[in-house]
Amino acid sequence: MIAKKYGVNELRKMYLEFFQSKGHLIMKSFSLVPHNDNSLLLINSGMAPLKPYFTGQEIPPCRRVTTCQKCIRTGDIDNVGKTARHGTFFEMLGNFSFGDYFKREAIHWSWEFLTEVVGLEPDRLYPSVYEEDDEAFDIWRDEIGIAPERIYRFGKADNFWEHGSGPCGPCSEIYYDRGEAYGTGPEDVMGGEGDRFMEVWNNVFSQFNNDGHGHYTELKQKNIDTGMGLERLAVVVQDVESIFEVDTIRALLDEAAKLASTRYHEDEKKDVSLRVITDHVRSCTFMISDGIMPSNEGRGYVLRRLLRRAARHGRLLGIEGAFLGKLAETVIAASKDGYPELEEKREMILKVLTEEEAKFNRTIDQGLSILAELEETLSAEKKTELSGEDAFKLYDTYGFPLDLTREILAERGFTVDEAGFQKAMQVQRETARKARKATNYMGEAQTAYQQIDPTLTTEFTGYDKLTDEGKITAMVRILPEESEEDATALTEALAEGDEGTIVTDKTPFYATMGGQQGDIGVITAGDNRFEVRETIHLKGGKVGHTGKVLSGMFR
Ligand code: SER
Repeated sequence: MIAKKYGVNELRKMYLEFFQSKGHLIMKSFSLVPHNDNSLLLINSGMAPLKPYFTGQEIPPCRRVTTCQKCIRTGDIDNVGKTARHGTFFEMLGNFSFGDYFKREAIHWSWEFLTEVVGLEPDRLYPSVYEEDDEAFDIWRDEIGIAPERIYRFGKADNFWEHGSGPCGPCSEIYYDRGEAYGTGPEDVMGGEGDRFMEVWNNVFSQFNNDGHGHYTELKQKNIDTGMGLERLAVVVQDVESIFEVDTIRALLDEAAKLASTRYHEDEKKDVSLRVITDHVRSCTFMISDGIMPSNEGRGYVLRRLLRRAARHGRLLGIEGAFLGKLAETVIAASKDGYPELEEKREMILKVLTEEEAKFNRTIDQGLSILAELEETLSAEKKTELSGEDAFKLYDTYGFPLDLTREILAERGFTVDEAGFQKAMQVQRETARKARKATNYMGEAQTAYQQIDPTLTTEFTGYDKLTDEGKITAMVRILPEESEEDATALTEALAEGDEGTIVTDKTPFYATMGGQQGDIGVITAGDNRFEVRETIHLKGGKVGHTGKVLSGMFR
């Protein structure tokens, strides 16, 4: 198998030094807080802080640069903990060319690093290229010597990298086959969703600029933007199940388990909490070291949310008293080599964490007493279900998450109107989204809803039917909070976990009109399920069903 099970800190160093030996300037990770870039809440990839060098707006200190960039992506925050693959914080290794080398060198070096420096078995590596990119295909086949049947051609969804507006282009990825032990299902194929084939490296041939409306122009120069998740590389090299098991992260997880007097893999419910705490403490520690403070909006709110989620999971595990500061110490110890700012800001990190945790512990107590009062009222009124609005108020004002409310109520035989809670949440999200769009440079008139074919209409059948069948006529994707510029985009497909709006030719769902409540429910197509959280009127007599794909895909 692999020659040596290098640690995370070793791999980071090996990567940067390898590219230094290929004429790259090692640059320090940029702050998580974007500089002169309002389109992004937090830095989410290695290329994000380098955009001006790609577009030619600014002159880079060297035409070849390599970094290990701290990144945060919160689009999947609800899944963090529940699975071992989701996380919010990660480090991204990258080598970049600003109008210097292009495909040939990028491909050769990625292969050399993985097979010769790290020592991964070539037979386990599979490249993919953008379906029309014969040039990249030929380099893999003729120069690297990969058998053509092992080189996969994928379409735009897989092999064209872009993130909202900005530099983008076709890409060539490298997957690692972890073997049958990691899965034998239909999804465990090259490019599939299973755990067996893991994408480790992405070489983006960054040669276009997307203006955010789907218009592409050639950049003045051809660039290379590569990205490799450091933790993912470590998963492969250390042959462990998930990012939570690589050396530095496992040390943190074990520390959390110790505080909770438990062990990882002893109890699946506790594992969820351990993973939440582990991931979120890493994000929080790095965010605070970059000067982000807990608040009720923007980045500060992301921090507050992560921090409270971690604190609450500590309570679920029965950890008593403040503990986030203790765990932050482990994060600092594990990562200070790569990120000296952690050590420099140690005091501030611990202070902010501890104060915010104490504040949360107080609100939790306050929330508990309010919940006790609500329970009394319910009993007096001979009711057993707490209203969604009350549950939402607890969440919104006292930071009391729904699952905590549900859990506490259940202990005394009460339930909570969860659909009502979701509805209240959706109303608040829409308000926040509108506020966000209004401050967007594009203005609200530019959302994707305006781009839907104006001749389409929706027939309302809800006066005599509660369920009905119809055809999908248009779909809009609602991008996660941290996405660049566009909050919405027309789309051909919505996949599991995606949020968006489905427009149909007929619907029994009643849409909101000035202050009324839109219907909620489910849209199904075979086994595919879409949760409708809000029904909205769109211009021209159309109805949009806004929500999230629970399973499968809608086209
Ligand atoms: N920008 C690409 C990514 O994030 C490669 O760095 O995957």
